Order: sequence, then structure tokens, then C-alpha cells
Amino acid sequence: MKRSGGALLSSILIDRQSKKKINTQIYMGIRQIILTGGLTAGERLPASRTLAKELNVSRTTIINALDRLISEGVLEARSGAGTFVSEVMSMGRPTLQKTTALQEEAASSEPPKISDMMETALPHLASREELPRKPHAFITGLPALDDFPMAQWARLSSKHWRGNRSEIMGYGKPYGLNQLRQAISTHVNASRGIQCEAEQIFITGGAQHAFQLIGNMLLNSGDKVWIENPGAIGARNSLIANGAKLVPVEVDEKGISVEDGMHQAPDFRLAFVTPSHQQPLSVIMGLRRRFALLKAAEKADAWIIEDDYDSEFHFEGQPLPTLKSVDTAGRVIYVGTFSKTLFPSLRTGFIISPPRLVPVFQQGFNTFQAGVPTNSQATIAEFMDEGFFATHIRRMRGIYAARYQALIYSADEFLSDILDVQPTQSGLHTVGYLKSGLNENDVTLVLAREGITVRPLDAYCLKPIRKKGLVLGFGAVTPAVIKSRVKAIAGIVGPLISK
Ligand SMILES: Cc1ncc(COP(=O)(O)O)c(C=O)c1O
Repeated sequence: MKRSGGALLSSILIDRQSKKKINTQIYMGIRQIILTGGLTAGERLPASRTLAKELNVSRTTIINALDRLISEGVLEARSGAGTFVSEVMSMGRPTLQKTTALQEEAASSEPPKISDMMETALPHLASREELPRKPHAFITGLPALDDFPMAQWARLSSKHWRGNRSEIMGYGKPYGLNQLRQAISTHVNASRGIQCEAEQIFITGGAQHAFQLIGNMLLNSGDKVWIENPGAIGARNSLIANGAKLVPVEVDEKGISVEDGMHQAPDFRLAFVTPSHQQPLSVIMGLRRRFALLKAAEKADAWIIEDDYDSEFHFEGQPLPTLKSVDTAGRVIYVGTFSKTLFPSLRTGFIISPPRLVPVFQQGFNTFQAGVPTNSQATIAEFMDEGFFATHIRRMRGIYAARYQALIYSADEFLSDILDVQPTQSGLHTVGYLKSGLNENDVTLVLAREGITVRPLDAYCLKPIRKKGLVLGFGAVTPAVIKSRVKAIAGIVGPLISK
């Protein structure tokens, strides 16, 4: 027989001899009931007074336990209405996994001593939620997995494993496989207008790893770092974790506002930008803006990270040259990734260093980088040298263009009262600004309940912005799915407008 949530709560066992505090035991008990489905999203908890009576503890003890669950997002307090199991519990967030004995132990003991740097950073780190794995509408950050030429890939990979044992089984080179560094330098020259030597290229475990390493090698605690607002969450976390004092800089239709950056922090040490396809607003940084940014960096003796994560897929006209390709003063550290051009589980990306920084990266990589797995680097290099990479990108450009068109046309047809979906010239996502004063977090939750993933613009903001919107990925699913899910959004969100 299914017991009611309230009855379940009163069954929490309290061990008064335990070293664990009573409020911790109650916290863990409630958490466990929720995680095992005894209480589900949206269910109301009994009043704290009732719980205190049933468990024979003080009301303050109950309130402490509930507060902790509220701060974790497991519960939510609605003023005047009570405490409820949070709606996010229906979304299966990664932070809300089953409590293990290890976690229980950690929760009940004193907080461990950690570095001052991490202690300072922790409260400012943003949750990235679950990284995308399964394709569905409108998940961001996932390429079209079904369209990847897996047979070609598997052939090259198995060829690698038949190679010379010491080459394939010994430690790889810390800076990355020479064949891959060479292939990347040829590719970025042809497709991104970047002239560089293979020696300037350092292979990393993806772009996020690159940001972490760059922050680690170039930042001092308290250094001012311009970051686009709204902007990339992962990069923001890496920079904060390395002591950066982030300066959220406005983004308009021409990209980051250099004027705003100069106004707030002319003495910046680093700027993080996504010029070819702004994350998340999808605008492209104008040429004049690019030169202004380079000039500001030179004046401040600052570095610029150019994150070029998905702009190989441009579907309108010729893309503007990369910032790196017009950087004559050697200020730009270019970061590339294979997460979109190939697939994210490869965990492979790269840094293209300005010549002056090459010895610094060499030193850093030599001393604390054991490198990225050689087998995947070798397979990527072969894939590029054989010409499969260029062909794959050309083909995917057409596929993504069709998905983008499906989003734009169906949004125009079904969402004209709800979302103003912005045109974009490249990449795998765009933003839709909400009309009719709808709340972006509410809409996100309502859609999540129906299996539609969107991300509120607010999640990308370090400082609130006026515009409210949803970030929509269009790369992971087919035009037909995009169209049907856009129609579904109209059916779900439309009725909220008239309420
Ligand atoms: C702004 C931005 N940069 C880079 C990446 C790629 O990161 P990684 O190479 O670590 O997968 C992403 C992933 O979605 C991203 O959103």
C-alpha cells in the first residue's frame, strides 16, 4: 500500500546516540524519501510544527533541515502556501542523485579544509546542470550524433590499434600528438584564416580544460577579467576557480561592448569572448568591435581568450575572419574544440598560443600535463589528413542549415505570440526572446515537464539583463522533430499567456 508523503516523513528514524546531528539525520531522511519517489515534484510537505511534533524534535531542528533542502533546490518554499518538493525533481538533475553512504558521511562531518582560492570560488560557481548526452529538442551543445560517419571513424581507430606498440601504448607527448597539431594548423589556416605553426598548438581535454589551464597559468587572484554577460557558463566557472574577479560586460547586437568594459575595468587582465557566435545570444562580433577589443587589450597589456566553439557551421554568406587572424599584437589565445565538429565524448580541444606565450604553455604542459589519450588524437589526425573532416563539416553545414530553417520557419508559423526567435548565421543554437511578459524560468520548467529542454537566458547571466529569453539548440534533432516540438511549445505556453 502506498503511504502518503506526510506519513512517510513521520517514519524517519532518529538515532539520538548517533554522532550525526539530529537536523542532519532529518535532512537525510527527507532527501532519501524524495529521491526514492516517496514524495514527488510539486507535493506539499506537512507544516514544520506538525513534523516537529511527529518526530518529537524542536521546530528549529526541522526548519534547519528544510532550509538545507531548500538551499539545495530539492524543496521550494512558496510564501503563504508552504514547502513543496521542487519541480526540478522531475527533471532528474545530476546534483540530486541518490545519497550514498559516502555522501551521508560527508554531509554529517565538519566541512573539510580546502584552498582559500576554492573556498572563495565555490559560492560563485554556477551549476552547468547535466551535460548533454541524449539528443532531443532543443538541447544545446550536442551535434547531430546520427549523422556522424561512424564506419570511417571505426576503421581509422582500429587501424591505429594495430600500430607500433611503443607508439600506441607508451605515454603520449604532453603538448599533443605532432600529427594532430600539424593537421590542426593546416585546417585553421584554410578554414579560420589563422596562420600559425604547429608548435603554437597545445592539445587539451576539450575547451573547458583549456580555459582551466589558461586561467591557471596566466591569472593572479583578484585579476579583473571581462566576461560577456550573458556568457559561457563553463568558462566563467574555470576563470572564477582560478581567482578571477569577473567583470560582466554588456553584449549588444555587435557583440561584447568594449565601451562598457573600458568603463568598468580599463585595467583588465584578460577578456573572454565568443566573437564568431556569441554564447548564448548568437550575435557575431562586428569587425570594428574586434579591432577595438584588440586595441583595449594592447593598452591594458591584457590577454584575450577567443572561444571558437561551433562557428565552423556557418550557413549564410562568408564568416568574418577570426579575432586571432587579425591579431597582429599577439594578444589572442584561440581555443578550439572537436566537441561540435566531431563529438563531445572525445574530450579533445586545443589552444593556439600567441608566439610569446609558447614557452609558458610548454613549461606548464611539460610539468603538469600528461596529455590527452593518444588513440583518439591519432584517429582525429588521420580523419583530418584523409580529408574526411573537411567533408564531414561541409556535409554537416547543410544539415544544420536545414535544422535552423526548420526552427525559424516553424517558430514564425506557431510561436509568433510567444517567442521572437533571433536569426543567426552560424552555430547550433539561437535565442528566442519571450513576448507577453512570460517568466523564462517558469516557461523552462513547464516545458521540461513535457520533455522539452530549453535554457533560460538568466542562467548565462552573472548580472541580470533586461531581456528575457530561451536558448534553443537546433543541432541535435531532425527538422521534422523541431517542427513538431515547436508546435508543442505553442500548445503548452500559449494558454499561459491568456492567464
Ligand atoms: C561556449 C562554449 N565553449 C566551448 C564548448 C565546448 O567545450 P568542450 O570542448 O569542453 O566540450 C561549449 C560546449 O557546449 C560551449 O558552450
